[in-house]
Amino acid sequence: MHFAIPVAAALLASAHGASAAYNLVREYSGSSFFDGWEFYGNYDNLTNGDVNFVSAANASSEKLAYVNDAGKVIITVDNTTSVTYNNKRDSVRVATTDYFPVGSVILFDATHLPYGCSVWPSFWTKGINWPAGGEIDIIEAVNLMTYNQMALHTNAGCTQPSGVNQTGATSATDCGTTSGCTVAEQQSNSVGAGFASAGGGVWAAQFDSSGIFIWFWTRNSVPSSVSSATNSIDTSSWGTPSAAYPSSSCNINNFFTAQQLVIDITLCGDWAGAASIYQSTCGGDGTATACYLNNVINTPVNYTNAYFEISYVKVFSTTNDVLVPTVSGTNTVLVTDTATSTASKSSASSTSTSGSDSSGGSNGAAMTGAKAYAAIAGATVVAALSFVLF
Ligand SMILES: *[C@@H]1O[C@H](CO)[C@@H](O)[C@H](O)[C@H]1NC(C)=O
Ligand SMILES: *[C@@H]1O[C@H](CO)[C@@H](O)[C@H](O)[C@H]1NC(C)=O
Ligand SMILES: *[C@@H]1O[C@H](CO)[C@@H](O)[C@H](O)[C@H]1NC(C)=O
Ligand SMILES: *[C@@H]1O[C@H](CO)[C@@H](O)[C@H](O)[C@H]1NC(C)=O
Ligand SMILES: *[C@@H]1O[C@H](CO)[C@@H](O)[C@H](O)[C@H]1NC(C)=O
Repeated sequence: MHFAIPVAAALLASAHGASAAYNLVREYSGSSFFDGWEFYGNYDNLTNGDVNFVSAANASSEKLAYVNDAGKVIITVDNTTSVTYNNKRDSVRVATTDYFPVGSVILFDATHLPYGCSVWPSFWTKGINWPAGGEIDIIEAVNLMTYNQMALHTNAGCTQPSGVNQTGATSATDCGTTSGCTVAEQQSNSVGAGFASAGGGVWAAQFDSSGIFIWFWTRNSVPSSVSSATNSIDTSSWGTPSAAYPSSSCNINNFFTAQQLVIDITLCGDWAGAASIYQSTCGGDGTATACYLNNVINTPVNYTNAYFEISYVKVFSTTNDVLVPTVSGTNTVLVTDTATSTASKSSASSTSTSGSDSSGGSNGAAMTGAKAYAAIAGATVVAALSFVLF
């Protein structure tokens, strides 16, 4: 696969800690937060969770996704409906309409993360041809786990090398396996009740040609370079990340296309509902149905904590290119998003729309007035996907 990443960005980006200029390209916060996200509107056919990911209209009418009086974004599981046997519970999966190329830094600030038996929340990213094009799991935990698990998922050939400079504990190094290359956060209060009582915290994910690096700071340790970052951000003073996936054993430009951000909460399913996983923190009779029968159906007994409370999601970039899918003939390609309405600031609006820009992909010639990026080599397969659902 060849991804037409801007050459200049690939050459300029160096090891994390180098002071590349990352400028704000998107801020999702406050009353306009959901303008930049699409609701899945289908049952969980991705991880076999026992939820219906509702439409935007249903999320609004059921109060499953809203901005509260304090200006914080709430994304939650339905914790009031009595669900009958064989049915699923309503929940939310949202994904950004925009895609962010290699050369981006993503911040996620929350004061509460979903937790509880059967609950499986995640903040993660994916390429347009996912699972091809890579996946970065920034926040993920299930049931009553007490630590965040970070991961990459890729096609075969990407690994995390041994002896990396990170504070987390590696549990698997092959990013091409089903479970991915995983790193367990070692700092306290990264998820669950501990995260909430500490006042939450902030994650930063640097998606760079030199590697992918994830930092976590509990509330009272968030550096001022993060909490006060407005128009630009400097990663150079952040020190050792929680998880480090240097490009030495994973060519980021080969394994990762531009990434879309996803926030979701599912219930049970492949990870939270696996019999031994569920039993390890939530007990029960150890059967494959324990997660569903003890939690999802009937009057909800304990989804009181199954919600995100998010202060903001911000994306900074070395390229200023924020991309959106568009159909070009039989291909779906990513082109520069020139819309300004989805965020409080959009550098994309000032990006040149000249099709002659040298960073354009090979499909650029087919696009008029827009910089085009090939989403995949031989992208005919993409035409089968319905982007409306993402
Ligand atoms: C999930 O459902 C949606 C909507 O029906 C469909 O477009 C998509 O292809 C499905 N995905 C999988 C992996 O089955
Ligand atoms: C929205 O709610 C209506 C009424 O309950 C339901 O029939 C429909 O399936 C829901 N759709 C989605 C995508 O959430
Ligand atoms: C609800 O779950 C929390 C952990 O998520 C637990 O501490 C609490 O005891 C549970 N409450 C009930 C009533 O089950
Ligand atoms: C690990 O990274 C930190 C922050 O960049 C740096 O200060 C430290 O020297 C590095 N340690 C090693 C062993 O490379
Ligand atoms: C549902 O969750 C909200 C927080 O999202 C909480 O305020 C409310 O008390 C919960 N309701 C029930 C019945 O657990």
